[in-house]
Amino acid sequence: MQRALPDLTITPPVAGEKVTLVLHADGKQYDLPVLGGTHGPKVIDVRRLYAETGYFTYDPGFLSTANCDSAITYIDGDRGILLHRGYPIEELAAHADFLEVCYLLLYGKLPTPSELADFGYVIGHHSMVHEQFKRFFAGFRRDAHPMAVMVGTVGALSAFYHDKIDITDPEARMVSTHRLIAKMPTICAMAFKYSLGRPFMYPRNDLSYAANFLRMAFGIPAEPYVVNPVLTRAINRFLVLHADHEQNASTATVRIAGSSRANPYACVAAGITALWGPDHGGANEAVVNMLEEIGNKDRIPLYIKRAKDKNDSFRLTGFGHRVYKNYDPRAAILRESCHEVLAELGKTDEPLFALALELERIALDDDYFVQRKLFPNVDFYSGIMLRAIGFPTAMFPPLFALGRTIGWIAQWKEMIEASDQHIARPRQRYIGEAIRPYVPIAER
Ligand code: ACO
Repeated sequence: MQRALPDLTITPPVAGEKVTLVLHADGKQYDLPVLGGTHGPKVIDVRRLYAETGYFTYDPGFLSTANCDSAITYIDGDRGILLHRGYPIEELAAHADFLEVCYLLLYGKLPTPSELADFGYVIGHHSMVHEQFKRFFAGFRRDAHPMAVMVGTVGALSAFYHDKIDITDPEARMVSTHRLIAKMPTICAMAFKYSLGRPFMYPRNDLSYAANFLRMAFGIPAEPYVVNPVLTRAINRFLVLHADHEQNASTATVRIAGSSRANPYACVAAGITALWGPDHGGANEAVVNMLEEIGNKDRIPLYIKRAKDKNDSFRLTGFGHRVYKNYDPRAAILRESCHEVLAELGKTDEPLFALALELERIALDDDYFVQRKLFPNVDFYSGIMLRAIGFPTAMFPPLFALGRTIGWIAQWKEMIEASDQHIARPRQRYIGEAIRPYVPIAER
């Protein structure tokens, strides 16, 4: 039976609709065109605003500004809805293999069985890295953060795979895209193995994307690796849930880097740097550190009090989101995955999970969080699951990067192929010194 879909407002393209801007300063008024979309609010087109009025708009953090058209992902943050190419995230997370989602994001449709088999073959064909690439790792300290290693090594792909780096060539673009999807698990697992001082594992193309990654991360050459279907399903889900999230900080960074026509490996490396911060992809790591610092349920009220205190820099990491003003649908799914993984591993009494559940309960009952619509986000439960599987906290952001690579590269490709593509160049409000003459050094 078909599940009822949420009733989302359709915002059709608006023929001739305009908003009128009245500038009282010069007594003039200007008509600004209004653009529709599929879902979501209407959009005021301010592209000609400066040329026509001499005014800029001011919007630090892009709170009210769309930077692009995109047909990949839609979020209704007020209602906690996330769609990829129109499909609800809950359905993709429940049924889709990660490679299916990669195909969907890249090509705009779900693959048929033969299309998926062909796609899997192509991705498998690119899953190894150049043998010389291994030496690159040796230059890093073993205790380097794996995100630092990822930034360096993913950026270095452009030095190894420059045969198909001409971004004006559609075939070259597609090969780079496939290479990034294929090599990212290999590089991510290598970064992990390097930190442990263990041998790298070559990929195995007969395994699913998630199982192959788990084998490269936890397998050792001396023994056969036994695939655990529950853990594989959990990692597959984790990757699906992180695949794309429209114009977040790292994706916007990839688009901005790509707008200068930089190569896709450099753009994705830029995305990894933006993802690293604790307010974005580093939050999953920060959540586990925070839960460990809280330590036990009795100390939760103290930390809730600190999170509410404007004189204290402490925030409840894993809570709040720029777009979601409702429960992040990904957090709800990951909470279920935590239950499944912990049951499979015989760790149902994992104290950190019990602490997280209690923290969520207390926060969602507190006026401060209710009034500000602060709910658990994707990072709140993911770290607990990853830790139970055996990843150290430093590996959480690289795993986020692994899942998000398809979103970055699909958005990069969409941008490069857009008819209306400009180098990204925000404006500013200048508040520095007024013009003044240079003072010779002897006179200062
Ligand atoms: N703990 C306590 N208070 C919070 C939190 C939090 N986690 N998040 C927001 N608030 C408060 C703010 O202090 C502010 O209060 P005020 O109105 O009294 O000044 C209000 O809620 C609105 O918050 P903003 O910072 O304006 O919201 P913004 O959209 O800019 O920030 C962000 C979103 C950065 C995610 C924020 O909620 C946060 O810092 N959360 C913790 C970090 C985190 O979990 N990041 C991961 C995000 S998901 C992702 O990137 C994959």
